[in-house]
Amino acid sequence: MLICRDLPSLRSACAALRSNGRRLGLVPTMGALHQGHLALLDAARAAGADAIAASIFVNPLQFNASDDLARYPRDEDGDLAKLRDAGCDLVWLPPVETMYPPGSASVIEVAGPSKGFEGGARPGHFRGVATVCPKLFLQTGADIVAFGEKDWQQLQVVRRMARDLDIPIHIEAVPTIREADGFAMSSRNRFLSAAERTTAPMLYQIIKDVARKIAADAPITQVLAEGEARLTATGFAPDYLALVEAETLEPLAQTTTAPMRLLAAARLGSVRLLDNMGVPA
Ligand code: PAF
Repeated sequence: MLICRDLPSLRSACAALRSNGRRLGLVPTMGALHQGHLALLDAARAAGADAIAASIFVNPLQFNASDDLARYPRDEDGDLAKLRDAGCDLVWLPPVETMYPPGSASVIEVAGPSKGFEGGARPGHFRGVATVCPKLFLQTGADIVAFGEKDWQQLQVVRRMARDLDIPIHIEAVPTIREADGFAMSSRNRFLSAAERTTAPMLYQIIKDVARKIAADAPITQVLAEGEARLTATGFAPDYLALVEAETLEPLAQTTTAPMRLLAAARLGSVRLLDNMGVPA
């Protein structure tokens, strides 16, 4: 497994991996890897990638509180061992000054799907994501990139950005990887206390019930309000529970024939948890 820490070596390594028409898959990450990330490598391969590059870069541009950035879990040695075991061909570990050299002045703003939800709760977050992702796509020249559906809004923002900028990359969406009790895997889960970890899967159970009721034509506003009340009663501080048009993230007060998604964010202790699912599931 090649490890690149500067752009010239990344570019020549990626060119070699893409030689003779071979397709390069990219798995962008911020490290602290878990099974959910490793599933992205498999999905990129299944989507036709002949070689896989993973990036590990804790992108300061997508954090709006410096303490959140400092607190983000980092485990470079552990991550490299996991990627090696998973058969990754190349790891891109750029220093911050390589990604954002002094004088950097360009950012990408995606309107539409960035609006509301995570975009509202974390101002500037999607600007950071939409700026770093095309840099990673262009630096590696990847043909295929895999993103988890766990961050549904991020996936729609990145799709919109790649379409709007005519970036020729296939974006493979990968279903959320869950623990045996249904709890969605995330790098931040390690911050939950043992008691909070016992409560955490209720987020999934509650949104599953809400999705089932909406699919059975129960009144949406009432079902969402009941879902939020159940989250609160279970110990969460819900931020939002919303039914949206799956691609545009436009909130829905009635069901539509277009694909729909149920989005949830709730705080459990100091940890903000996200989950989502299709409706019907
Ligand atoms: O989902 C993440 O880990 C990050 O937002 C990403 C896509 C690697 C961009 O920094």
